[in-house]
Formats: sequence, structure tokens, C-alpha cells
Amino acid sequence: MLHLSITYPPLPTHYSIIRLPITHPTHTYFTGNPVCVSIYPSGTRPKRNAFHRKPGVDPMDAADDLFTREDPIFANKELLEISHLPGEGRIVGRDDEISDLANAVNPAIFGQSPSNVLIYGKTGTGKSLCAKYVSKRLVSTAGEEGVNATFAYVDCAQDTTETQAVQTIADGVNDPDVTGINVPDKGLSTSTYYKRLWRILDQRYDVVLIILDEIDKLDDDAILMQLSRAGEAGKITDCKLGVVGISNKIQYKDRMDERVKSSLCEREFVFPPYDANQLREIMQARADAFHDDVLEPSTIPRAAALAAREHGDARKAIDILRYAGEIAQGNDEPTVREGFVTQARQRAETDRFRELIRGSTPHSRYVLQALALLSLSNGRQDGFRTSRVYEIYENICRQEGSDSLSLRRVRDLLKEHAFLDIIEQSKHSGGSAEGSYTKHQLLEDPSVVKDVLTEDSAA
Ligand SMILES: Nc1ncnc2c1ncn2[C@@H]1O[C@H](COP(=O)(O)OP(=O)(O)OP(=O)(O)O)[C@@H](O)[C@H]1O
Ligand SMILES: [Mg+2]
Repeated sequence: MLHLSITYPPLPTHYSIIRLPITHPTHTYFTGNPVCVSIYPSGTRPKRNAFHRKPGVDPMDAADDLFTREDPIFANKELLEISHLPGEGRIVGRDDEISDLANAVNPAIFGQSPSNVLIYGKTGTGKSLCAKYVSKRLVSTAGEEGVNATFAYVDCAQDTTETQAVQTIADGVNDPDVTGINVPDKGLSTSTYYKRLWRILDQRYDVVLIILDEIDKLDDDAILMQLSRAGEAGKITDCKLGVVGISNKIQYKDRMDERVKSSLCEREFVFPPYDANQLREIMQARADAFHDDVLEPSTIPRAAALAAREHGDARKAIDILRYAGEIAQGNDEPTVREGFVTQARQRAETDRFRELIRGSTPHSRYVLQALALLSLSNGRQDGFRTSRVYEIYENICRQEGSDSLSLRRVRDLLKEHAFLDIIEQSKHSGGSAEGSYTKHQLLEDPSVVKDVLTEDSAA
């Protein structure tokens, strides 16, 4: 059976996709699949010589040496893309978490209110994956029970304001042909978006699950208040709502308004990091991203061991595997050798750090910058005391023309970084004269931290 799987960014409306006939199914074009796809403005055809150089020869018949037709390394690289949502058989080591989550939202399949859930865990522990996976299964099981359910997904790192988030939810659950309601990308007031959302929900659904991923990136709790009280406040009458909040900031809950906290945190789950065996299985389950016999047998175990030792982060493990493949590709090597893993790890590490600090506040960055500067100028030490970090942090704030936060807030920021394994904290006793104190040490390479932070502020 031929399998077609192509991803491309959203197209501008005046473009269309035309699938050309397959005359040589044994040839692979572009994505490693036996199909050729080209994109060009509606109503036009591609210039023939845009596809082949030999005049009079059909592009499908000619062997054009301009493009590489066969990818010698990857058979289905999409399996290693971070946005790829693996199917059940490919989700490894999360049976308990999946069944706990399913249990919390189970009432939804009978049209009753699901529990509101907060999921915590370090980066790459499968939180987003499992939340989406359980939601999808919930929707289909509810359907079998005759209950009309759906879920909406909001990446709060992208939709940080209340208006953006409510627009995304309303747009996600809407079908204007069915509801007759229009949810424009922008231009409406927040309250109008809410009104449209409530109408859509009541009109179309019995139950809706709303996943607020990276919930800590929201500017404030306003939308949480609205969603958690929508039924009680009579905004929706026919539809039941459940909220699944996801965060990798363990202290997020402490910042929440008490009323929101009580209704939103009915159930809480913490996803632990993966161990080397689980990471190996996660990678093994995607080994068919590569052609047969391309992966050296020791490559995956080595990548798993490295990723587990450092963070137990599945995203990083998968990244390492993809980068190792790209290194083989770049070097025209026929196999993905174990030796490529070290180089791939470095690249994955930089990406991981970049991703970790994506959307973090300037002060959270200044604190890291202070620690990176201390580490770079003092060489290897077993860490720096809070007071020392705070001193440098204050200097950075002055340079940036920003008021510094209190020592207490900086301590909290350092704790958040420690939770994400960006830094490590150790307690020390200075004897009766000094009492106990904490030292902080970067776990990431200080020059990577400095580079990423500077590249970010320059952008
Ligand atoms: N148990 C698993 N089995 C298979 N793939 C997994 C598993 N856990 C995570 N992955 C993959 O690892 C990547 C990261 O997972 P996910 O996005 O769910 O992490 P996360 O906990 O949400 O991290 P973050 O806090 O950074 O958002 C994804 O590509 C996901 O498909
Ligand atoms: Mg996530």
C-alpha cells in the first residue's frame, strides 16, 4: 500500500495544491513518498522547465539530477518531528498517567462535567502528548455513547493574553457553516469573543475539554476564572466544560488566585522524567523513521543513556536521533553511527535550552545571565551563593534600565530554574557563625546559556 504523508505550512488562500500523476511509483520525490506534489498559484501550471531541463521530456519520465530523489537515511522523517503525535502503540511508559488522566475526565463520555486537571512535569515528559492523546480518545468514545464532545487546544506560550486564548478556543470549536457564528482572528472585544464562545458551546456540544498548555505563560488568571465558572455563572447551560492545565513550573499553582485554584486543581498529576530504558523504547518505537539497516545498533542505546543521564527528556532524545541522522546525511555516510550522537547531543542541548527559556520573563533571564557570567569568569566551582548571584543580577538590571526584583523573588526564579534542571541547588552549612546557605550552579553549558540569551535579546 502506498502511504502518503506530507506536511507543509499553511498556504496563502490564493494558492492551491495540485497532485501530479505518479508514473514512476518506484521513484521517490521530496518526502520519500512515491508522489510528487507541487504548489503554485491557482489557475496556473508550472513552467515545464521549472521541473526538467531536457526539452520535450515529461518531468515524470526524466531522471532529473537537480534534486536528490532518494533519501538514503530517512524513510519517514516525520516520525521524528516534535509536532508529530504518535499513535497508541508508540506512546511508551505512560500507561499509569494516561489511565489517571482518562479517569479524571471519564464523566465526559456520559455528558457529565469532567474534573479539571493540572498536569505538572519537567520538559519532555510527555505531558502535552498524553493530554492530547487522552482528549482524542475521549472524544471518540463519547461519540460512541451518543455524546457530542470535542476538545480545544491552546498553546498559552503563543496565546498569552485572555483575548487571544478565548479567540483560539472559540475558533477551534466553531464551524461557521453549522453555527452561523463568525470568530474573526482579531478585532472583537474580549467579552464579545466570550459571548460567541458560550453560544457555540451550547449550540454544538454536550461536553468540551479545553487544554491550556504552558498555562503559566498566560498573562493573568482571567480566562481561568471565566472557564472554571462558566456553568455556575449561567454563561453556558447545555454544555459542560473541563479544563486541563499543563505546566512545567512546579510553583505555578502558588501564583494562582485562590478561587481559581480551588476549582481548577481538582486533580493534579506529576509526570516523572523518563529513565534510559523508557527513552530507548521511545526511540526504538520510531526507528522506522530510518531506512532498514541505516541505524547502527548501538546508536539508540547510546542516545538514550545520554538523554536519561541528563534530563530524562523525550524531546531531547528524539532530537538527538534526528540530528544524528542529519549529520550522517550531511556527511554522505550510509549509516547513523553511534559516534554522531555526541555531536547531535550538543545541538539538541542548545535547542532544548532555547525552548526552555522561550517566553520566560526578562528577569528570569537576567538571573540566568548572572549565573552564566559568574561561571564564565570564575571557572569550575561548586556553585555561587544566592547573595553573589543577586549582586550580578542587580548589575544586569541596571544595565538594562530595569528595576530589580526583591531577593525573595529572585530566589523563587532560581527555584524554577532548578526544577527545570537548568541549574542545580545545593544546601551548605556555614557553621554557627554563618548558618546555612544555598549555592546555585548552571547545569547547562554557561557559554550556551550566554549565547542563547544574547542572541535572544538581539532578536
Ligand atoms: N511516552 C512517550 N512515548 C513516545 N513519545 C513520547 C513520549 N513522551 C514524549 N514523547 C515525545 O517527546 C516529545 C516531547 O513530549 P511532550 O511535548 O509531550 O513533552 P512535555 O512534557 O509537554 O514537555 P514541555 O514541558 O517542554 O512542553 C514529543 O515529540 C512527544 O511525542
Ligand atoms: Mg508540552
